[in-house]
Amino acid sequence: MDFAQQLKGQIDIVQVISEYVRLRRVGSRYSGLCPFHNEKTPSFSVSADHQFFRCFGCDAKGDVFNFVMNIEGLTFWETLKKLAEQHGVPLPKQSLAGDERTKIRAGIYEMHEIAVEHFQRNLAANSASSVRQYLGERGVTRTSVEQFQLGYSDSSGRSLLKILEQRGFKPDQLDASGLVGRRDDGGFYDRFRNRVMFPIHNESGKVIAFGGRALDPEDKAKYMNSPETEIYKKSQVLYNLYRAKHHAMKLDRILLVEGYMDVIGATQAGATEAVATCGTALTVDQIRAMKRHSQNLHLNFDPDSAGAKAAERSIAALLDENMRIRIVELDGGLDPDEYCKEHGAEAYLEKVAKAKAYFYWLADRARGKFDMRDPQGRVDAFKFLIPSIHGLHDQIERAAVAQDIANYLGLEKGLVLDQFRKLALDRASREPQKQADPARATDRMLLAIILTEPDARDHLLSSMRTLTSWRRFPTAGIYETLLGMHENGDPIGYEALNARLQPSQQELLASIVLSRHESPQASVDDALSCLAALERHEVENTTREMKDSIRAAEREGRFADAFELMRKLSEMTRQPGGIR
Ligand code: UTP
Ligand code: MN
Repeated sequence: MDFAQQLKGQIDIVQVISEYVRLRRVGSRYSGLCPFHNEKTPSFSVSADHQFFRCFGCDAKGDVFNFVMNIEGLTFWETLKKLAEQHGVPLPKQSLAGDERTKIRAGIYEMHEIAVEHFQRNLAANSASSVRQYLGERGVTRTSVEQFQLGYSDSSGRSLLKILEQRGFKPDQLDASGLVGRRDDGGFYDRFRNRVMFPIHNESGKVIAFGGRALDPEDKAKYMNSPETEIYKKSQVLYNLYRAKHHAMKLDRILLVEGYMDVIGATQAGATEAVATCGTALTVDQIRAMKRHSQNLHLNFDPDSAGAKAAERSIAALLDENMRIRIVELDGGLDPDEYCKEHGAEAYLEKVAKAKAYFYWLADRARGKFDMRDPQGRVDAFKFLIPSIHGLHDQIERAAVAQDIANYLGLEKGLVLDQFRKLALDRASREPQKQADPARATDRMLLAIILTEPDARDHLLSSMRTLTSWRRFPTAGIYETLLGMHENGDPIGYEALNARLQPSQQELLASIVLSRHESPQASVDDALSCLAALERHEVENTTREMKDSIRAAEREGRFADAFELMRKLSEMTRQPGGIR
């Protein structure tokens, strides 16, 4: 068995996926909102019995490796390594260096590890006392410095470069790292100079980039971030998600702020579920990364007009992804970091706890923008709110919001309700119908038992060999493959079977195994009654066919044939399991 198979045997897909997706147990499978597309009701399933996942909405599917590769954007080799390390499975002797791309990425990861340590050493050095003082004045505790692995990039402009070169990294590797820049004459220099360094981690906690805050007020850019690299795609990363996600899952709530310092301030205050974008507009990928851990989002952007505009845009994008949004409002024009420092942890946590649903905040914005004494102004205000309300998928919630907004803005209820009804119609015509389950109950149960009950399998497959009725089922090809495997003495299981099937049969198999219908706990008795049902079908079919043949023979004057057929028929109906 190769290492991948061996590893797979030692890890549980349900446990691995629960690190990324909020799952609920439904019978023998687990269900949740699909992390790979936008949906309101869960069509994402994970089978514990068969160790695979499948989404009926977007068709994402595969084993535990496929899942981790996709969700983390890792190569196959990186996925093996990560899972092996996580589960304490020793890697094989010859290293898992794998393909070319993995090697390049491994170099960049390593350079980032070296950089984190280097920046941390710098910050601890005697010469950096003013930097430590700066952090102290901003209220960053020592614990936070450690927790967030904060560091300092000195102003020499060469010190990280020197270490990387000493460690044997070649110019093309340095180029690919994003940690150094290149002058016109071809020489390298440290990209970050005289800045407080904030390491940015991916969801598994590996450092993939940095944000650096200028210490010199004269510096042109207050914050500078790593460029995109092989391991860093800005639009997919949220600062602090790898730590916040566990809290977010537990609390079923996530807090989105704008800056690195805001995350640190909020975390120190006890809002450990805080994450931030890294200086970019909120993207769908980032929203989905949050949604996997909780659908309830508290938005706490800066109160200035840029922050408010960003919040408006974010609300629209978040609603598109069915997030439930509340807005944290802080007085005094303070951002989360400043508020925590000025008013303390308790005050901030209270603001978070008391955050109101987003539409009140939007309605307030509308009030500021339009003349609410004028009927037309009120209608305009409502129109301003429509795109955001449009995103509300829940009917009851929509109706409640309609009431609230009507009251809040002093609008005629009729006007609001009318608009809402139109929105609802629109939406109904846009949402696709769920497709029907293609397999029948007997079929589903039989297949499940054959796959999961080794004791019953032999008996069932041997019996099926002599039957013909199942050959008419949509699943016939699957059973034939199973019979072939059985005959050859091949080990039988979901994966082995799946590997031998045509793509359309694989679809069918997955849909049966992950059927939405609760399959009762399968027992050998169940299997036997399935078989009896099959046999009855079989006899019924054969009987009907024989009767047809007898009639045809009689019509055509072949009386000897007719007589022989009748004899066979009466023999059959006398057997147990025959028709009564
Ligand atoms: P802010 O300017 O609101 O930063 O930018 P802040 O967190 O309050 O900064 P402090 O408190 O003055 O240190 C919020 C976020 O936007 C990004 C950074 O990610 C920052 O944390 N940003 C900001 C940049 O990428 N570049 C910039 O020049 C400014
Ligand atoms: Mn700030």
